[in-house]
Amino acid sequence: MTPAAVFAPGPAADPVLRADVLAGLSARPRRLPSKYLYDDRGSALFEAITRQPEYYLTRVELALLAGHMGEIAAAAGPAVHVVEYGSGSGLKTERLLAGLEGPLAYTPVEISAAALEACVARLRPRFPQVEMLPLRADFTRPLRLPRPRRAPARTLVFFPGSTLGNFAADEAVALLAAMAGTIGDTGMALVGIDLVKDPAAIEAAYNDAAGVTAAFTLNLLARLNRELDADFDLDGFAHQARYVAERERIETRLVSLRPQRVHVAGHAFDFAAGEAIEVEYSHKYRDAGFAALAARAGLEVAAGWGGEPEGFGLRLLRQAAR
Ligand code: AVI
Repeated sequence: MTPAAVFAPGPAADPVLRADVLAGLSARPRRLPSKYLYDDRGSALFEAITRQPEYYLTRVELALLAGHMGEIAAAAGPAVHVVEYGSGSGLKTERLLAGLEGPLAYTPVEISAAALEACVARLRPRFPQVEMLPLRADFTRPLRLPRPRRAPARTLVFFPGSTLGNFAADEAVALLAAMAGTIGDTGMALVGIDLVKDPAAIEAAYNDAAGVTAAFTLNLLARLNRELDADFDLDGFAHQARYVAERERIETRLVSLRPQRVHVAGHAFDFAAGEAIEVEYSHKYRDAGFAALAARAGLEVAAGWGGEPEGFGLRLLRQAAR
């Protein structure tokens, strides 16, 4: 799944982008919403991040899917309708659809019509027996799912990549609650979560030696220069990603390297040397904390694969017993 799918702003978003950016840059601390990292170049840079040796998340999640597919398939059951939050960009979706027992239908959910089309065009020839039912929608809200021709045994939401970790706790609960509505009484959700571990390993994943993550973060300023007529000097800001142990998350910022004035959509913003713009949080989870988050959304963990040794987990959620 590409997070572009998750966060794609859509063609009508320009006034929203402008309002979000002006409000965020006026706030203290200054903030820019992480969803705006994923323009075309940002999405391509994110794909490149997933191939960096330090970025263990994608590699480990793929290995968990490969190594435990039989158990995952047994727990999910046959004839499911797979609903992926975001459009599957590759191996993870393929592995899941290939490993489940006779999945009936596949619904990628996202806002970008082009990404949905590309996803279905790629998967249809590979899985001719799976009905492709793409849905253009914002999955942070409850979804009305397309109905497959043959009745599925249950809905299985797939939300890999630890994208949940990019949401603040209250937003994550709201998203999980919407997910609970989408899966209904008998459905399940397979969610990827990055786990708390050695801070050095986590920090390295967000500070790769090749500088791809830095380019990804700085690309946000290039986007604002292009789309909001801004004049950020890309050499005047630096990517900073630190693991904050008390909050168990990576906090990514853009730090001003000198005093400078920047113009955005006709507004002037003065930065002191060392002043930061908060860009992204990537929360890391412990099992107890994740279960508590799920419980706030009315869900419980039915099964899980991957733990401390792997550093990343897949968790299967269902409605909590009432
Ligand atoms: C999409 N998301 C789960 C990534 C993460 O790890 O938080 C985004 C990312 N940001 C920097 N590197 C990767």
